[in-house]
Amino acid sequence: ADEGMWLPYLLGQQVYNDMVKKGLKLTKEQLYSINKASLKDAIIIFGGGCTGEIVSSQGLIFTNHHCGYDAIASASSVANNYLKDGFYARSKQEEISAGKLSVQFLVRVEDVTKQVTDTLKDLNGQERLSQQQAVFNNIVSQAVAGTNYEGRILPMFRGNQYLLFIYERYKDIRLVAAPPESVGKFGGDTDNWEWPRHTGDFSVFRVYADKDNKPAEYAADNVPLKPKYFLPVSIKGVKENDYAMIFGYPGGTNRYESSYGVKLKTDVENPAIVGLRDVRLKLMFEQMKKDPATKLKLASSYAGIANYWKFFDGETKQLLKYHVLEDKQQQEADFEKWAQGKAEYQNIFKDYAQAYKDWSPYTKHRIYINEGILGSPLTAFAASLQALEKALTQPGTPADVIQKSLQAADKARSAFLQEEDKRSDQLIMAATCHKFYTDIPQAQHPIGFYDGVKAKFGSLDDDNTYRLWSTAIMNGTIILNDSKWKDFIAHPDAVTLQTDPAFAYASAFIKNYAGKYLPLYNQFMLKNNDLGRTYLKGVMEKEPAKKWYPDANFSMRLTYGQVKSYSPRDAISYDYVCTMKGVMEKYKPGDYEFDLPEKYMDLYKKKDFGQYKDLKRNDMVVCFITTNDITGGNSGSPVLNGTGELIGLAFDGNYEALSHKIQFDQVYNRTICVDIRYVLWCLDKLGGATNIISELKLMK
Ligand code: ARG
Repeated sequence: ADEGMWLPYLLGQQVYNDMVKKGLKLTKEQLYSINKASLKDAIIIFGGGCTGEIVSSQGLIFTNHHCGYDAIASASSVANNYLKDGFYARSKQEEISAGKLSVQFLVRVEDVTKQVTDTLKDLNGQERLSQQQAVFNNIVSQAVAGTNYEGRILPMFRGNQYLLFIYERYKDIRLVAAPPESVGKFGGDTDNWEWPRHTGDFSVFRVYADKDNKPAEYAADNVPLKPKYFLPVSIKGVKENDYAMIFGYPGGTNRYESSYGVKLKTDVENPAIVGLRDVRLKLMFEQMKKDPATKLKLASSYAGIANYWKFFDGETKQLLKYHVLEDKQQQEADFEKWAQGKAEYQNIFKDYAQAYKDWSPYTKHRIYINEGILGSPLTAFAASLQALEKALTQPGTPADVIQKSLQAADKARSAFLQEEDKRSDQLIMAATCHKFYTDIPQAQHPIGFYDGVKAKFGSLDDDNTYRLWSTAIMNGTIILNDSKWKDFIAHPDAVTLQTDPAFAYASAFIKNYAGKYLPLYNQFMLKNNDLGRTYLKGVMEKEPAKKWYPDANFSMRLTYGQVKSYSPRDAISYDYVCTMKGVMEKYKPGDYEFDLPEKYMDLYKKKDFGQYKDLKRNDMVVCFITTNDITGGNSGSPVLNGTGELIGLAFDGNYEALSHKIQFDQVYNRTICVDIRYVLWCLDKLGGATNIISELKLMK
């Protein structure tokens, strides 16, 4: 298979020749150019953690349904439920503003390693971090001076190289189309992270600009963006072994994680996260089942929690199955042999051992704060009020600073209330507080907190105690009481805030953590960074001829591979495509995850597939798999053939390779893509959105 998340701007020096050998028909300049329009100009950061691509001369965007999910849910109401029923704008007037959603175009990349390291030299730890921030700010502000661009510097190879990325951000984004959730999320969490998969995971948006084609805040008279470049769309279909490449924004990998890190992950971190998410998901789901309004409120947050609940569980299983720990230990032993007598390198793993020994007793505590205590939305919001508390209690805080802090809190509260479901939140609060009591060593509990609960509400081993306690918080807090909150904003005083039961609860846990354990965590992270940087420097020095690619860090990458079937287990082989026949096999009327719209069934019965039909199979191809190297963040990325035409959208990885963040598996790793012909069929036949089809440049 095809490991490697390559930096497009370095392709010429690295893998371009190999890409050509495997089937690429484009020049380097057509893929990535600084002066001329090139393929990279069609690739965007979509929102905060996805990829999208421009597919028409009028700024049309394709991305995944799960990437547009939050925007689709926010645009929906129980009466106009676009999440449930789908949405197709018949004209530009019908497109719906996607609110805060923005997209970013990559303008250029610059290697700033020399500038950064001239200042940082061999600094380590906190000193390095502080200096680094200053240098970064300096370089970025010079680079973007006099423009509307944004710059971000990312350490590559754990800080052995530094790259500056310059972006242009567009803020007027509108929803153009989405299939019904039953199609866009067909198979739900049951099928998530698995092949065979039958999901139409796509949605359509549009970038708007001002009259000069420049970024602007939403305005009714903004016009569709005229992009530098857009992708042609191929409806020729895919064959086994076809060349496939994916441009996009993989969010994070950690392929040089130490064996110590792998062990802590599988032993402690992942099981803790999964256990806590399990609790929260069940409590949310119970309420979501009950009524559509609650479902809409919680849908987006639920999907996000569920996605990585399944991921972390699968990741642990695959890391163990493939003996990744033992592989790492072997690599580290080899490294240590090489490092003998090299002062810079020979003690790295002794130092790793010590750093992990120091931190591991508190790892679970940290996760129980972030995924447990703060897994209650009310508690998380209450915790965010600490900035306000500080403003109110610090002597000499200027009145306008206090006013600003109050306004910010008031605005954040409105946003919080939009998605707040009190019933599930109250139970989550109770369950996570109980779980913290049971699972975290008593010596680490906030002093006096649980005694207080016991004195007022009963035995700390009894679920009911925590239910009573959380009910009291819900009833007593000003956060959930409009008139009391208004009063507080009008006449703010620290005592009202500090004695508020929700705030006091959040504070007790946060202050305990921040006072005693966060400093240890920071120390650990700094040490880990320094060791990782040195280790990777040594690893590259040890094999100077090898072509290296940096870990994913949400910068633009390219991966190339092939359309390919695989065998997950003995005697089983998986085809490289799946079809609508399989959608029908999975169909369960009325089911939460496997239902389908009536119209879909009708079209299938009539075999009304139009020009999107796969002739070989006399059916619609729904999804296909490739050997590409992607991870979360790549969602929505274009899958392109050798001539740079769009053949699909990447939306997932397969279960057998969920260890991919730590180690790429050459045999099992697959990317799951929705076939572009299915996307177009859903728009055209299911949605009747011929207006969108006619905007595209179809290659037949
Ligand atoms: N696993 C996919 C990813 O992280 C997201 C799939 C969303 N669908 C779902 N059923 N949760 O890229």
